[in-house]
Amino acid sequence: MANTPHGGVLKDLHARDERIQQQLKEEAFGLSDIRLTERQLCDLELVLNGGFSPLEGFMNEADYTSVVDTLRLTSGHLFPMPITLDVSQDDIDRLSLKAGARVALRDPRDDEALAILTIDDIYRPDKVKEAINVLGADDPAHPSVAYLRSRVKEFYIGGKVQAIQPPVYFDYVPLRYTPAELRAHFKKLAWRKVVAFQTRNPMHRAHRELTVRAARQRQANVLIHPVVGMTKPGDVDHYTRVRVYEAIMDSYPHGMGHLALLPLAMRMAGPREAVWHAIIRKNFGATHFIVGRDHAGPGKNSQGKDFYGPYDAQDLVTKYHDELAIEMVPFQMMTYLPSSDEYQPIDEVPKGVQTLDISGTELRRRLKTGAAIPDWFSYERVVKTLRESYPPRAKQGFVILLTGLYNSGKDTIARALQTVFNQQGGRSVSLLLGDTVHHELSPDLGHTKEERSAHLHRIAFVAAELARAGAAVIATPTAPYQEGRDAARHTVLSSGGSGGNFFTIHVSTPLEHCEKTDRRNVYSRARKGEITGFPGVDVEYEAPDAKEVDLTVDLTSQTVPEIVHSVVLMLESQGLL
Ligand code: ADX
Repeated sequence: MANTPHGGVLKDLHARDERIQQQLKEEAFGLSDIRLTERQLCDLELVLNGGFSPLEGFMNEADYTSVVDTLRLTSGHLFPMPITLDVSQDDIDRLSLKAGARVALRDPRDDEALAILTIDDIYRPDKVKEAINVLGADDPAHPSVAYLRSRVKEFYIGGKVQAIQPPVYFDYVPLRYTPAELRAHFKKLAWRKVVAFQTRNPMHRAHRELTVRAARQRQANVLIHPVVGMTKPGDVDHYTRVRVYEAIMDSYPHGMGHLALLPLAMRMAGPREAVWHAIIRKNFGATHFIVGRDHAGPGKNSQGKDFYGPYDAQDLVTKYHDELAIEMVPFQMMTYLPSSDEYQPIDEVPKGVQTLDISGTELRRRLKTGAAIPDWFSYERVVKTLRESYPPRAKQGFVILLTGLYNSGKDTIARALQTVFNQQGGRSVSLLLGDTVHHELSPDLGHTKEERSAHLHRIAFVAAELARAGAAVIATPTAPYQEGRDAARHTVLSSGGSGGNFFTIHVSTPLEHCEKTDRRNVYSRARKGEITGFPGVDVEYEAPDAKEVDLTVDLTSQTVPEIVHSVVLMLESQGLL
């Protein structure tokens, strides 16, 4: 089998009679359902289409133990990664899961039945051993250890699956190939040698040079095969990355390369992952596979040290080279040589020659500040795409929450800020004034503590969405309770997109002044008991403490222009103006 172009035997479970698939679909209708997690869905897709050949289902206890201990299935086939279907005790009881039972595996996004699993066994894995053997340490700084501890349920069920249909996607459909489709594509192009490149990051010039070098060395064509399933938490989203990959494909000589997306859920398991990736790429028809520096590395452990050595992945692939049926193309770190304007692997750079690199952290910093990203590092179209997804702070949205007593001057300050931001330009400005927004968003809510919290939550939701779209949002609810304000901040910050730009300004104008200057006599009505739940009168206004506020202002000691200027200075110091 070794060196046959485009992989060995493929276990494409979809390659079945359509009638049988229809029968399975009907059967699934009457079975218990397991709604897959995102990771299980990725795994199942690659089991079904043969990306994980020779697997034909989720691992039973014997295979799982054998893989964890020896990187082999009980059949003797090399397979370094446990592919398991985790369930809870509650799932077992509720769905009457037991050996011999059949269950429908459903896509969580649209509830379609994708496959039927016949349960071989149900077992409780030793998660600590799995972490140590597969990931190298039981250290929660490893994203997959954290996942194993917090997300993976306590039992695994093993068994073969029968395919009903592949999951449906709406994004980048033409770039999604099954192994059989990709093999057929290579055949059509008469590509006998194909070097595959795994990536979960945006590609720049170093990666283009790496792949072209590999192609030259092996006289092969190039498959850019990025992962669009699950990658390391915090990675660049796959939409942005695919736009980057599409842009970089233009930098290859016409006909040299091909881009296809891989719906893999990565484990960031370094060496074991590299062997796994090689098997997957063989299944997808590649004859060669690039393993560079720190392949599928998870970053630092809780002692601040790298989990794996930079070339451990290459060493493990080398160990199994003879039986992998795909040839590794190893590379040391590619680095830029300004003197000759080229990239070279660090081990080929003559002593004393100057080299340049821009780290991932430095690149993120430059995107944030809008600082230049040089041509030697990347391509104009790639940088443009990244800048669109990661606008510099001067273009990011933000939320300003002005909290304070009724008639403390919040609305006056907010209107003045609106004017100043409009003058500045570059963002749309949204003013969410207490009264107006209550009328529009929460006509059903009164002013009890719970109702105020619910109202504030709605404001935070709207503010977060606006800020995500790049707006400057100024909101002026009274927001008398710390708990509610904390929740609002959390809503905005966790929505992503606003870049963490949330500011709490306490308008601390004293009650006496607020009451004295209240021309609408709302305080006097509250004092008479005509209005209840009124902060400062019959309920407490919980003033924010120093930890919570970004700025405290007071209309009895400051003018509105002074206050506005202090807000401008604060935003400028954050790079937002
Ligand atoms: S990975 O998790 O998919 O490995 P990444 O997308 O950064 O992360 O890397 C993809 C592949 O390119 C890996 O084989 C990695 O070792 C290699 N690689 C990335 N950058 C370099 C570089 N500067 N020099 C050498 N190899 C690199």
